[in-house]
Amino acid sequence: MSEQNTLAFTKKYGPWAVIAGASHGVGAALADQVAAKGLNCVLVARREDALTDLKNQLVDRYGVEVLVVTLDLTLDDAADRLVAAVADREVGLLIYNAGGDPYITRFLDTPVEDWCKLLHLNTRTIMRCCHAFGGRMVARGAGGVLLVGSQAALGGVRKLAMYAATKSFAMTLGEGLWAEWKGQGVDVLNLLIGTVDTPTMRDAMVRQGIAGALTMQLAKAEDIAAIALRELPNGPTLIHPDDLAESPTGSHSGLARREHVQRISAESALFIGD
Ligand SMILES: NC(=O)c1ccc[n+]([C@@H]2O[C@H](COP(=O)([O-])OP(=O)(O)OC[C@H]3O[C@@H](n4cnc5c(N)ncnc54)[C@H](OP(=O)(O)O)[C@@H]3O)[C@@H](O)[C@H]2O)c1
Repeated sequence: MSEQNTLAFTKKYGPWAVIAGASHGVGAALADQVAAKGLNCVLVARREDALTDLKNQLVDRYGVEVLVVTLDLTLDDAADRLVAAVADREVGLLIYNAGGDPYITRFLDTPVEDWCKLLHLNTRTIMRCCHAFGGRMVARGAGGVLLVGSQAALGGVRKLAMYAATKSFAMTLGEGLWAEWKGQGVDVLNLLIGTVDTPTMRDAMVRQGIAGALTMQLAKAEDIAAIALRELPNGPTLIHPDDLAESPTGSHSGLARREHVQRISAESALFIGD
């Protein structure tokens, strides 16, 4: 990215980014790339040691400010706790990356209370974070929201019924917010990914007894993070890799969902107004 593009990125999405789910994998790669562009970072996850290691790396490498927030995002009041920890820092970028399914079982084989945790992680906490941080971005007329999603959002999946359902919620919410905020300087992107090399995915493959679980070639977290940041203005929803445009500007990326959301929003305006 040229110096000019980095400056434009910082102006639009700085000075602070919140990365929910930053301790490893795609979230850690996103934090690294966001900090490389000069944004200060709020790193959120449950494992304080991993976040502190990442904080030290980002401070050393890029000289940015970093706040560590150790938090379980499945808690009822997780978003309130996060907003309180962020305090008056000016957040221009919200990245919600936490949200993998730690269970991967048939619906009846996991206690309903555990499904409720996944439900909170992928619906209520996202919604409250979008309301709090998105509200501040709309007020200042600049910002971005990146929801790291899954291709499972596109329909029900065996052994991933709750995961797919909650990812659909996030995608649909993101699309509605994109339609509402696109004229107000705030970008929203759902990045729906397939299988990526993260500790959670490798652990799941081992637990499920998949042959080659540790050696199979998977998409790299760093590559997914780079695509996510590059495509942020091309919301609302990009299915990776099918939906990536070949054009150098990428402005046609995610065209199918964009046209769908634009058409539905225009048609519904006839009945519910703008
Ligand atoms: N990996 C894949 O193949 C794949 C495929 C499709 C979509 N995705 C999506 O990509 C995103 C990242 O995937 P991932 O495999 O790295 O998933 P992940 O297990 O959700 O981990 C991502 C990050 O979220 C944090 N996290 C998880 N649960 C949390 C909780 N309850 N409270 C706070 N932080 C929490 C993890 O750190 P801590 O454990 O330290 O809390 C980690 O830093 C997810 O949204 C996932 O749905 C992944």
